[in-house]
Amino acid sequence: MADEGVSMKASMTIDLEFVVGEVDDRIFGSFIEHLGRAVYEGIYEPGHPSADSSGFRGDVLDLVKALKVPLIRYPGGNFVSGYNWEDGVGPVADRPRRLELAWRSVESNEVGTDEFIRWAHLAGAEVNMSVNLGTRGPDEARALIEYCNHPAGSRWSDLRISHGIREPYGIRTWCLGNEMDGPWQIGHKTAYEYGRIATETAKVMKWVDPTIELVACGSSYRSMATFPEWERIVLEEGYEHFDYLSIHSYYGNQEDDIRNYLAKSLDMDAYINSATAICDYAKAKSRSSKTVNLSFDEWNVWFHSLELDKKREPWLVAPPLLEDIYTFEDALVVGCLIITLLKHADRVKIACLAQLVNVIAPIMTKKGGKAWRQTTYYPFMQASLYGRGTVLNPAISCPQYDSKDFSGVPFLESVAVHNADSGELTLFAVNRSTEEELELTAKLRGFENHRLVEHTVLTNPDLKAVNTESKENVYPSNCTTSELEAGNLHAKLPKLSWNVIRMSTTPAA
Ligand code: AHR
Repeated sequence: MADEGVSMKASMTIDLEFVVGEVDDRIFGSFIEHLGRAVYEGIYEPGHPSADSSGFRGDVLDLVKALKVPLIRYPGGNFVSGYNWEDGVGPVADRPRRLELAWRSVESNEVGTDEFIRWAHLAGAEVNMSVNLGTRGPDEARALIEYCNHPAGSRWSDLRISHGIREPYGIRTWCLGNEMDGPWQIGHKTAYEYGRIATETAKVMKWVDPTIELVACGSSYRSMATFPEWERIVLEEGYEHFDYLSIHSYYGNQEDDIRNYLAKSLDMDAYINSATAICDYAKAKSRSSKTVNLSFDEWNVWFHSLELDKKREPWLVAPPLLEDIYTFEDALVVGCLIITLLKHADRVKIACLAQLVNVIAPIMTKKGGKAWRQTTYYPFMQASLYGRGTVLNPAISCPQYDSKDFSGVPFLESVAVHNADSGELTLFAVNRSTEEELELTAKLRGFENHRLVEHTVLTNPDLKAVNTESKENVYPSNCTTSELEAGNLHAKLPKLSWNVIRMSTTPAA
């Protein structure tokens, strides 16, 4: 560990040739589940002053649009494993109210498939649709894809048309159930049972629409007792039918140990490496020429609301569940997690920040009142805006530390993204040190005509600082001390900070 009081130094080389892979824009996806106040009182609140004629809140939509989320997973999550999609289409007055067993709530079905897809399109996003493989199976899944993607002339496509939607939605990415390895899941299955039903469902869905891509459930956590055997068995059952393997992970600071908390992205890194290896093992075993990539379709910080939610009254419509209020330190962890996802751009093609509004979300709302940005909104937004292009793995030399669960944790967590179209090179960097500023020297290789566009910093003296409806305490500000001269970037990264350093360049002739 670096000595207290001594300025810490780090050096890196960013080379145009150190390519990890192209960023699939869907890595900046998110997630809306019928859970708590995500849909009702979140994206949808008829009567709210900003609501449109369909009941969608305009203020929430604006905050979502600013994130440039390209893909939104829907309708669950645990919810999907008990969901009858037919309940949520057609005249709203005829839709049933149902007991929703995953979250012990009442689902009014006011918002369903058509309303949600319409909202997602207003937000500029495609939908990543999940099918129910908990209480249901291939038959309902083939009906739903026929409803969504078949042009006309069949029972379910004509039903869609009778609801006023003439053109098929053309939904490309579909999840084959959710977290089917978890005993908490409605219709939990063994790996073999899930592998079989996912394979048979995949077959009929692709027979209806061969252009779709399918995501098979991997593990809900890296610490699940069934990981990684679950993945092996599932992939061996249906390798040729699956395009992505899904993995999920949430992190928290229950022990209030900031050094260990900031290191938890190393767990995500190890999880991605293992899941990738299992995909490749299954590829080898099935003698396939096709590569199954990863969909990290639930990731975030989730711990603040866990105890409170155990005491919630059941069977309410839109109860305030999973309403984590994020702190400055959570924003730093989200920054480290985003950097980790980017570092694996070659194999992580889809990722969904779980979730988007009110439920473990970057956006919060008050019923009848304001919508506001949580601390975590900013690193996610900046990565989404500036993290598109080609990921370059910087060669980094920096001091390391050991924490309770991790050894060799680099004080500097960083990745670079080069966008050939805009000519912009962006460096994302977290200084994990609780004590020291980090003096960074980065040498740019393979670029010329360098210019520093901006260096923004998210930092705060109070690790527990939060944003509220009335006051934003955590947001990025400009740092004016950085310099880019003769291909060398000199920047000072404050202790405990998320940094976005944007440079304009052209590749060297
Ligand atoms: O995102 C909240 C919940 O976390 C999801 O419903 C479930 O898939 C996961 O366990």
